[in-house]
Amino acid sequence: MCGIVGYVGESKAAPLLLDGLRALEYRGYDSAGAALMEDGAFTIVRRAGRVEQLSEPLAQLHSAAKIGIAHTRWATHGAPTEINAHPHISADGRWAVVHNGIIENADALRAELETLGIAFDSETDTEIIPQLLGRVSGFEDAEQGTPLDVLLDVLPLLEGSWALGILCANAPDKLLCACQGSPLLVGEGEDGLYLASDYAAFGENVHKVYRMTDGEIGVLTRDGAAFYDSRGQALTKPAEEFSHREQGGGKGSYTHFMRKEIDEQPLAVSRTLEQFFGGALHAAAAGDFRLPCQLPHSPRKVWLVACGSAYHACVSGKYVIEELARIPCEAVVASEFRYQYPLIGEEDLAVFVSQSGETADTLAAVREASARGAATLGVVNVAGSAIARACDAVLPTLAGAEIAVATTKAYSAQLAVLYALALHFAKEQAHEEPEFEEALRRLPESIQAALSTEDAAKAAAEQIAGADHAYFIGRNLDYAAALEGSLKLKEISYLHSEAYPAGELKHGTISLIEAGTPVIALACCERLLPKTAANIREVAARGARVFAVCARGNGEHWGTDSVISLQATHPLLMPSVEVIPLQLLSYHVARIRGCDIDKPKNLAKSVTVE
Ligand code: M6R
Repeated sequence: MCGIVGYVGESKAAPLLLDGLRALEYRGYDSAGAALMEDGAFTIVRRAGRVEQLSEPLAQLHSAAKIGIAHTRWATHGAPTEINAHPHISADGRWAVVHNGIIENADALRAELETLGIAFDSETDTEIIPQLLGRVSGFEDAEQGTPLDVLLDVLPLLEGSWALGILCANAPDKLLCACQGSPLLVGEGEDGLYLASDYAAFGENVHKVYRMTDGEIGVLTRDGAAFYDSRGQALTKPAEEFSHREQGGGKGSYTHFMRKEIDEQPLAVSRTLEQFFGGALHAAAAGDFRLPCQLPHSPRKVWLVACGSAYHACVSGKYVIEELARIPCEAVVASEFRYQYPLIGEEDLAVFVSQSGETADTLAAVREASARGAATLGVVNVAGSAIARACDAVLPTLAGAEIAVATTKAYSAQLAVLYALALHFAKEQAHEEPEFEEALRRLPESIQAALSTEDAAKAAAEQIAGADHAYFIGRNLDYAAALEGSLKLKEISYLHSEAYPAGELKHGTISLIEAGTPVIALACCERLLPKTAANIREVAARGARVFAVCARGNGEHWGTDSVISLQATHPLLMPSVEVIPLQLLSYHVARIRGCDIDKPKNLAKSVTVE
């Protein structure tokens, strides 16, 4: 989602800001802009579309400015146009602001300022901030107070969340920053100070990082950073050592990060599982299964809370925890959980699953569960992220940096952690599950074997790519996999698709099945095969083209058009195996349709607004 970069120091700011924006592109955005300050005057460049469109106009400025701020915007208030792109400027032209987050009382504040005669340029909530800064600082005397004093007066007027980078023409050597509910980092480099909303924006120059916390303000100059609390008291902040690594290790020989990350899944899952088995999964020295963190003993109920694909991992997790450990378990979408007055309490465990660890709804759900007394566990891929810090305990997924917006390896690592959690609870209840445990140790191999379905997935993709709609069906764990397969297809190929429990289709949606409609039928859940086979026959009888995903040579005689065959593993682990051909199918459909696979339109990697 939105990204902030800023710089003040000895070097020219424009190329550094541009590099920072490029590194943040993976987060998803739809416009970009930068403000450079030289001799107390701003130069602003903004464009709708890609960061690359800033490159030429910035270069043509030949600016010697050594201080600046820049932003990638993912539209919330107002269309993704140039006028709505950040930075926004105060009516008096003295303040420039970039902002991540949402100002919830922007409409009321805007109405007040408009009655005072201040004219707004954009439709954004952000513009309220420079306008307030301009108004407060200009109210009596333009020279009154320092920019820090003005900011201290303005921040209490705002409701919502923010990470801010601010320039003030009256203080040409200062870059101000502040955060509340949205991440912000200050990097110390050899040639100056860098501001960023994500570590990824820091290049090789940065060797120390200060992580800002809610309510803090920073004043950065070429001589160093000073930090203050919300009352303006000076703070001493510890710095973390930082060393730059290329994000995701680059694409190597792959055309897309997504395709590379699909291949990285056996490694991501094996690294994640090693935490539970005391090292290499099969080495003679491999230890017994053990949870690497403390959790409450046998909770009354387990809640699995997340968004998007992470929620789909939770749907699988629910089936597995209930079947293996016999503990009631509920999977809930985070944005619903937080407003449903959840009946959660001190005897419950709430598990929050998130690749980024920043998803606003999931983070708010952690706070809701904590306030109701539940123990909280984060399953996150980004160490030190907001969700990791907000939870009582953390079980990390060790998938490594995931760059493609569509998650693959982080999703697989999330499933692995949830299986391990199920095994832990089963053992606590004295249900020994040796077959499950052995199959779990071998899960990376099972996923590796599933990668050999690429030719079959590609052949299916060629037949599906021209369709307008597709349906995914399955029962039980196959339904959980269908949810993920359907999301993957629509998010990267823009082909409309829906996932249904196979037995539910005939209660309405089957009316949409006509000659040639693609139906991807997941039939790996062995105990329900006859039922799923009957549902496949129902859609085939109405002309659907059925692409079945099956194990053990099943599926040939059910009226299917083609069958993608998988090697079977323990039935409760099949979601990890069957999702592989679904990821490959989506990837090839999107490739055939010429889509921007790693950066699908309208999507963001980290969804940091509600
Ligand atoms: O970072 P998170 O795991 O919390 O993100 C949750 C969803 O936004 C994410 O899984 C999203 O659905 C992916 N784009 C799906 O590929």
